[in-house]
Amino acid sequence: MEKRMNLDFTYQNPTTIYFGKHALDNLSSELASYGENIMLAYGKGAIKKNGLYDQVVAILKKSGKNIVELPEIMANPTYEKVMEGATLVRENSVDLILAVGGGSVIDCAKAISVSAYCEGDAWTRYWLKFEPVDNKIVPVASILTLAGTGSEMNGGSVITNDDMRLKMGRVFPSEMNPKFSILNPEYTLTLPEYQMVSGIFDMMSHLMEAYFSGEDDVTSDYLIEGLLCSIINSSKIAVKDPNNYEARSNLMWSSTLAMNPIMGLSKAQDWEVHMIEHQLGAYTDCAHGMGLAAVSLPYYRYIYKFGLDKFVRFAKQVWGVDEAGKTKEQVALEGIDEMEKFIKECGIVTSLKELGATEEMLPLIANSTVLLGGYKVLTAEEVLEILKAAYVAE
Ligand code: NZQ
Ligand code: ZN
Repeated sequence: MEKRMNLDFTYQNPTTIYFGKHALDNLSSELASYGENIMLAYGKGAIKKNGLYDQVVAILKKSGKNIVELPEIMANPTYEKVMEGATLVRENSVDLILAVGGGSVIDCAKAISVSAYCEGDAWTRYWLKFEPVDNKIVPVASILTLAGTGSEMNGGSVITNDDMRLKMGRVFPSEMNPKFSILNPEYTLTLPEYQMVSGIFDMMSHLMEAYFSGEDDVTSDYLIEGLLCSIINSSKIAVKDPNNYEARSNLMWSSTLAMNPIMGLSKAQDWEVHMIEHQLGAYTDCAHGMGLAAVSLPYYRYIYKFGLDKFVRFAKQVWGVDEAGKTKEQVALEGIDEMEKFIKECGIVTSLKELGATEEMLPLIANSTVLLGGYKVLTAEEVLEILKAAYVAE
């Protein structure tokens, strides 16, 4: 039976985006709208090495702000770090949290924002029980240095609870979006290639998670195919020529669009690859995009038969597979093969072993994975089979 979609949604995007080589020029006028206590949240030092830290501090000082520093935010930020930031926010009556970094720093800033004035344990309330946020939140803004997560224009916040060995994501309503985000593609030029290509697969995965579900004719699917084509094209250029500004700009803007609710409005979605990766990350601390790539290949090779027509469409529209003289199965699988070739060409890691997983971890990861699914809701046993396939992959 045909399943048809009715467009029926509310969409709001309250983030102001300043994009381009001079985007930072807008920081001081934005700061004028906030009080004097600014938390400067950042990672383990990349922004000190490339000079961005000094530039931002100079602007904050010139604007007469008190700076409350929260350094050393780790990749895959922990709830413990969130609590450290929440205490600092309360003690210093922080008026704005300015996150300078990749998705981890921005996610951590949002988590601090909802947690600082939360009554009770924020982890349980907001990441386990998904309760609506009923306390004061502190505005967040971002200066992005890594293209991938889309955290700069969404309400997403993915946090790892080390004690529970759980990595949980939540997309908060748009009040939690950064108020403004500064996107200068030049900031991404200092990224190691490993992080650049991890971000590339992350943005692609966000699009595929929204795409592989439903049998209806949805505007979003056409947007997704277009964005994927742009990402594939720009990635090939950026891998060969990392300083290509046009390609890096396209990737930065594509990633912002890719992980935004606008791509999946009124649409059934999948997100199982992300659910598996989150637990993989909780156990191995691997780079998010690499974990996604490792899981995606065996996952899609297993799941395609439950959504065959969509995988055929994917092969033709995104990877240019010629269907002449082939069965639907062959076309669908050729599309996944093309994706694998692309993954290899970019140097994206697809072996769980290489990402730090051990054989003993696999059942623990499978049994703690949230089971969602687009074309099929997997069982923990099926997740384990997918992990085993990723474990022996090259
Ligand atoms: O710590 P620093 O020194 O800043 O170094 C970082 C880090 O080591 C480095 N880096 C960032 N920008 C750089 C740079 N190095 C040199 N030059 C630059 N310009 O890159 C490393 C990784 O940074 P991280 O922020 O962890 O990467 P990413 O942006 O991929 O974020 C990953 C986190 O976001 C979550 C992931 O699960 C993971 O925890 N996600 C967030 C989402 C959201 N908010 O919507 C959705 C995603 O699906 C994802 O789950
Ligand atoms: Zn992701």
